[in-house]
Amino acid sequence: MPALVARAPAEGRLLEVGCGHGLFANACALRYPQLEVLGLDPAPAKIRAAAATVGPQPNVRFQEGRVEALAAGGFDCVALIDVLYLVPRGEWSGFLSACRDALCPGGRLLLKEVDVRPRWKFYRCVFQEALSVKLLGHTLGAGLAFAGRDQMPALLGAAGFRDVRVSDLGHGYLTPHVLYEAERA
Ligand SMILES: C[S@@+](CC[C@H](N)C(=O)[O-])C[C@H]1O[C@@H](n2cnc3c(N)ncnc32)[C@H](O)[C@@H]1O
Repeated sequence: MPALVARAPAEGRLLEVGCGHGLFANACALRYPQLEVLGLDPAPAKIRAAAATVGPQPNVRFQEGRVEALAAGGFDCVALIDVLYLVPRGEWSGFLSACRDALCPGGRLLLKEVDVRPRWKFYRCVFQEALSVKLLGHTLGAGLAFAGRDQMPALLGAAGFRDVRVSDLGHGYLTPHVLYEAERA
């Protein structure tokens, strides 16, 4: 999480799509007082929990909803942290394009996902997420879909992003965290 917060802009407007309980959104709002943060999630219970954490912090708010239905764009940064894998693969193009449309020209995408290698770390994650999404229902998700770092830059390019940078954030973790940073073309 600190590595992700460090890559958020210090000012302007940040949209977190699939913000869950609001950890990243709140961490960014606290670290960057000049940044205006909106957390969006389709799960009402998570948005209620996130909204209850805000307190007097003036630069963060949470809203139930999906990026595809977001009327207003113009964000300087869109963060997608452990969310894309919950979207069916056939919907990735439309979903990523909606994230692109939410950005101002030159705005940045922060996409944190799980890599498919090393295989043992990847399968450990698939098992954990299958339990969480399909068996226990802790996480709202329409399916589980993953792409490795060899595929993701081309998928992002096709969705209207350029200058994709890939960072391995998985060292020392049981999860093969990988971060893609890209700019709206
Ligand atoms: C694993 S949680 C990650 C939450 C948060 N980003 C974090 O890192 O703490 C995944 C979140 O994505 C949300 N989600 C699932 N499907 C989504 C979709 N199609 N669009 C946006 N958010 C979605 C879930 O409700 C859940 O809060």
